Amino acid sequence: MSSERDDKVWLSADIVSQYLSSVSTVIPFKSEQLDVMVRMVETGIGAQTETLRFMDIGCGDGVLGAALLGRFPRSNGVLLDFSEPMLQAARERLKTRASQLSFIQADYGDPAWATMVSAYGPFDAIVSGFSIHHQPDERKRRVYREIHDLLVPGGVFVNMEHVASHTAWGQTLFDECFIDSLVKHHDRKGSGLTREQIASEFYYREDKKANILAPVEDQCEWLREIGFTDVDCFFKIFELAVFGGRKRLSGN
Ligand SMILES: C[S@@+](CC[C@H](N)C(=O)[O-])C[C@H]1O[C@@H](n2cnc3c(N)ncnc32)[C@H](O)[C@@H]1O
Repeated sequence: MSSERDDKVWLSADIVSQYLSSVSTVIPFKSEQLDVMVRMVETGIGAQTETLRFMDIGCGDGVLGAALLGRFPRSNGVLLDFSEPMLQAARERLKTRASQLSFIQADYGDPAWATMVSAYGPFDAIVSGFSIHHQPDERKRRVYREIHDLLVPGGVFVNMEHVASHTAWGQTLFDECFIDSLVKHHDRKGSGLTREQIASEFYYREDKKANILAPVEDQCEWLREIGFTDVDCFFKIFELAVFGGRKRLSGN
C-alpha cells in the first residue's frame, strides 16, 4: 500500500476510537439505512432464505454484519477491513457469533483482495458501509466489478455510502444535518463544547481528506454498465445514500 494514500488514516487506533465513539453513532438516519440494506438483501435473494453467505467490505466494527445476522441468524459472513483496530472492534462486537464469521485483514484498493476472498464465496450478498468512497472513481468501478464477480447469480450488492452533492447547497444541507446530530450527541454527553467548536472539529476532521465522493447517479450507472440489474438508489438524504442492485440470474 502506498504511503501517500489518505485512507491510511483508518489504520490509526486513535482515529478508529474517535469514529466508533462519536461519528458512527451520530450518522443521521443510520438505523433507517440499515433497515433498507436488510430489506434489499431479504427480498433480493428471496424472503424464504434463512441461511445467507455474505461479505461486508470495509466492515469497521461490524455494524452491517450485525444487522444481517439479526435477520439471518444462521448466516455465515466474511468481515473484511484493512484496519486491525477496526477488525478488533468487530471481533469484540460479534464475539458470540465468532463461529459463523471470518475476519479478514485485506485492502480492497489492491485487486489481489478478490482472489484472497474468493475461497469464501460466491456470496449471496455483499454489502459495504461508508467505505468505498475512499477509492478514486476508476478504482471504485473496478471494485464494483470485482464484487459482481464474487456474487452468486441473483446475488445482491448494497452500498450504504457517503456520496457527492451536486451543488454547494446540497453540501451545506448535509453538513448542517450532520453537525446538528453531533451537537445532540455532545449535549447528551455533557461535553460542554459549543456548536462552533463541534462544527470546526467536523470540518477539519482527520479522515475527511480521505473522502473521494461521487454522485450516486453516476455510481448506479457504473453498476448497470458492469451488468447489475434492478439498480437503484433506494434511500437518500443529502449525501447519504443506499444503492445497489442484483447480479443477473443468467449470463453476465
Ligand atoms: C467510515 S468507516 C465505516 C465502518 C463501517 N462500515 C460502518 O458503517 O460503520 C470506513 C471503514 O472502511 C475501512 N476501509 C477503508 N478503506 C479500505 C480499504 N481499501 N480496504 C479495506 N478496508 C478499508 C476502514 O478501515 C474503516 O473501517
